[in-house]
Amino acid sequence: MEIIVQETYEEMSRAAAKVVARMLNSKPNAVLGLATGSTPQGVYRELVRLHKNEGLDFSQVTSFNLDEYVGLTKDHPQSYHYFMHENLFKHVNIPPQNVYIPSGTTDNYVAFCAWYERRIEECGGIDLQLLGIGSDGHIAFNEPSSSLGSRTRIKTLARQTIADNARFFEKTEDVPIYAITMGVGTILEARSILLLANGAHKADAVVAAIEGPVTSMITASALQLHPDVICFLDRPAADKLKMLDYYQWVQAKHPGAPQGT
Ligand code: F6R
Repeated sequence: MEIIVQETYEEMSRAAAKVVARMLNSKPNAVLGLATGSTPQGVYRELVRLHKNEGLDFSQVTSFNLDEYVGLTKDHPQSYHYFMHENLFKHVNIPPQNVYIPSGTTDNYVAFCAWYERRIEECGGIDLQLLGIGSDGHIAFNEPSSSLGSRTRIKTLARQTIADNARFFEKTEDVPIYAITMGVGTILEARSILLLANGAHKADAVVAAIEGPVTSMITASALQLHPDVICFLDRPAADKLKMLDYYQWVQAKHPGAPQGT
């Protein structure tokens, strides 16, 4: 794992967006795996800026989102369909037919999940997967105790996740209890992965994911098994890392480090 620590959320977001842009410039028909939530908003803002000001082209890109709340329609303001449209898709030239987001309203979840997995494969697999991390260490909605070999399926959200995400809803009871989510196994098949985390409230999850044992209790720790993961952290999220000095030393010495190119 490569650990890149930036002082601020904005710097972290710009550095991660640069990696995405580099992927699109070298492979214009790349398949992106996308995340929602507060964490990637800065990356999407920067990608939109690069599209508008520097012509970053999404015309051949295909995207697969990680997850969606069960029961929310596409136009529900808290649905991940709506989030992606508002934060990225409506601002760039990605063809709508190339956008895949799990359905929160299908009447056959089992068939839908199998189809979603198949579509990822038919599109050639995910080249670059963007991830946030939950305060309970989840990636996508793979809550603690999820199988590290899991595939796209329905998950019951943990109480911690419901409490964390209640900030987007009027009241906690409005947060859906179920989500459809790519599995840990699905995520690990991406050819490269960017894990982003910002804020002191993520510091415990970050240290467990990066420096703790690989365990289904912190599904982000499974990323330790992947050969191409870059973690972009802001300073508060990195604060509890035992090897922080080492990562920063590597970052300073590494001629190819993304923030220096
Ligand atoms: C969202 C997702 C989740 C979030 C995580 C962190 O698509 O898959 O795993 O990345 O819950 O959420 P934020 O970024 O809101 O702190």
